[in-house]
Amino acid sequence: MQSKKMRWTASMFWSSIGKKLLMALTGFCLCGFLITHLFGNLLLYSGKETFNAYSERLNSLGLISRFIELGLLFFAVIHVIIGAILFFQNLKARPVQYIVNKRAGGRTIGSATMPYTGFLLLTFVIFHLINFHFTDKTYATIYQIVSSTFTKPGYVTIYIAAIFITAIHIRHGFWSAFQTIGANHPKYMPVIRVISILFSIILGIGFGSIPIYMSLTG
Ligand code: HEM
Repeated sequence: MQSKKMRWTASMFWSSIGKKLLMALTGFCLCGFLITHLFGNLLLYSGKETFNAYSERLNSLGLISRFIELGLLFFAVIHVIIGAILFFQNLKARPVQYIVNKRAGGRTIGSATMPYTGFLLLTFVIFHLINFHFTDKTYATIYQIVSSTFTKPGYVTIYIAAIFITAIHIRHGFWSAFQTIGANHPKYMPVIRVISILFSIILGIGFGSIPIYMSLTG
């Protein structure tokens, strides 16, 4: 009985809709992280004391902080693995590769490029973690690390490009996730579309303004 239930759960998650559901749920969690991350990063505008105090407060949470980080890593790994599986399954399902990539059937640039923007985003997150998370913080505060990074035009360019890609990915992902969880009623879809656009614009401007501001004032 128990193993039948487990087999049912496994096959449910392994089905096409199960995988999409996992993408949607993990995507929502990652969006939740991005909102809190944006609020935290906006404290850079209040100066070094406030930002360093915020960072120290987070680190002082100790085990709770590590637990949240592990949860975030877990969601990100599931999102990336399932996304890659869906990408390769879609490739295989196409009997003939398109010679001309037509934007047919309501496909937008955002939806057609999801796997590619997703891959670029993953590359950026690894680069970003090496920059700010896994860096030696013995001789510099986190504010100094961030502000010295954004004195370099190359880094400012990379961050702005990555944030632009994040906004494109989220614009479609957020909308698509709502569809997956069943919120695809004609009455709600226009509202969800507007919310997705606004959400990606807020994230884009919020994160994107930081490297520009820091490079001008740092
Ligand atoms: C201007 C934009 C951004 C700034 C200034 C910034 C800054 C930071 C800082 C200071 C940390 C913490 C380092 C530490 O104390 O260990 C961090 C961690 C992190 N950032 Fe960003 N970030 C930015 C944009 C982004 C974006 C767009 C993403 C994702 C797409 C992202 C994902 C992460 C992740 C996953 C972590 C690790 C979480 C953790 O330390 O618990 N960041 N970021």
